[in-house]
Amino acid sequence: MGDPREIGCAISWGKAALRLCLFARMIHFLVSFSRLTRYKVPVKIFILALVLFVCQARIALAAANVDFGAQIFPIFEKSCISCHGAEKQKGKLRLDSKAAAFKGGEDGVVLVSGDAAKSDLYRRIILAEGSDDVMPNKGDVLTKAQTDLIRDWINQGAPWAETALANIAPAQPAREPDVPAADFKPGAAELKATASLQAMGIELWPVAAGLHWHEANFRSQGDRNLDAALAQLKDAASLVSLNLAGTKFSGASLANLKSLTNLAQLHLEHTQVQDADLANVSGLARLTYLNLYDTPITDAGLEHLKGLTKLRNLHLWQTRVTDAGAAALQKSLPHCVIDRGWVSTAAESKEPEIKK
Ligand code: HEC
Repeated sequence: MGDPREIGCAISWGKAALRLCLFARMIHFLVSFSRLTRYKVPVKIFILALVLFVCQARIALAAANVDFGAQIFPIFEKSCISCHGAEKQKGKLRLDSKAAAFKGGEDGVVLVSGDAAKSDLYRRIILAEGSDDVMPNKGDVLTKAQTDLIRDWINQGAPWAETALANIAPAQPAREPDVPAADFKPGAAELKATASLQAMGIELWPVAAGLHWHEANFRSQGDRNLDAALAQLKDAASLVSLNLAGTKFSGASLANLKSLTNLAQLHLEHTQVQDADLANVSGLARLTYLNLYDTPITDAGLEHLKGLTKLRNLHLWQTRVTDAGAAALQKSLPHCVIDRGWVSTAAESKEPEIKK
């Protein structure tokens, strides 16, 4: 299946090529035209003006690339998400994450990438105010400028850029009734921690508009030792995603992760995380993604992961984990995709032979 973003990109490249062709033909025409001398000057000017006018209209018709984050999501946020988000899912539709939006509502798919005319979402927003199906179904309808933007965005393949996480986090409270859902608010300790982190130049970002869940990315912190920053993290209960890839910290400071019980994603690739450090991760019951690529982890470290029943993706490429170690963990976590790079494919192709 094509990623809508790729399709959107291909479409915009196609359009750019088309525009270039048109432009080249126009120049060619103008050059040959100016060589003709039998027309009088005013006629020449008139025809030139006409050509320029037609070209401009064509360029205006070929819609400019719509920026989802800057132009489309703010419309959803302002006019749709109050009824199609974490709090309410009218018509069983959510528009606060890519996965949910493309899944559609109770009547099926609402967004057809590349085809606004076939997209129920577009059909509804252009209905007259007061008609049964119009969206939003309360308050002001969208302006023509807004509906045109949404139309162009869908026709451009409906590219929806977001971190993979936004798919997981907003959906999580729905699947897990015990998770503090929409009414979850960071406590005083967390607000203090957030301020301290900010003072160190580290921001916690909301994973999706209107949600109190946060993600933190330390990747850009370079060679700086992060122990002081990690000490603040222990109060950041709203964190659902933490990226420590390529960073420097002492193993002991990973103990601060223990209290991050809402964490769904954890990036520890390219770090010196040790087997024993993973004990701090063993209680993170909501973890669905763990990346240990290019770390000194061995089979002993995997022992700490056996209770992480929500884990769906584990990256172990370029670690010291053995076939046996990975197989043992797979037994405890049958639903987890354990990625060991080329090793895992080799192991898979061997398996059937053993069975014979
Ligand atoms: C005040 C609440 C409210 C707001 C705001 C709202 N909707 Fe809806 N929406 C509903 C209700 C209720 C339904 C289900 C009834 C229906 O199908 O008309 C629905 C259904 C839908 C459906 C059909 C889902 C399906 O498969 O049945 C689409 C598409 C939709 N809305 C899009 C939007 C868009 C886009 C916006 C923002 C521009 C929006 N809605 C804003 C209340 C709302």
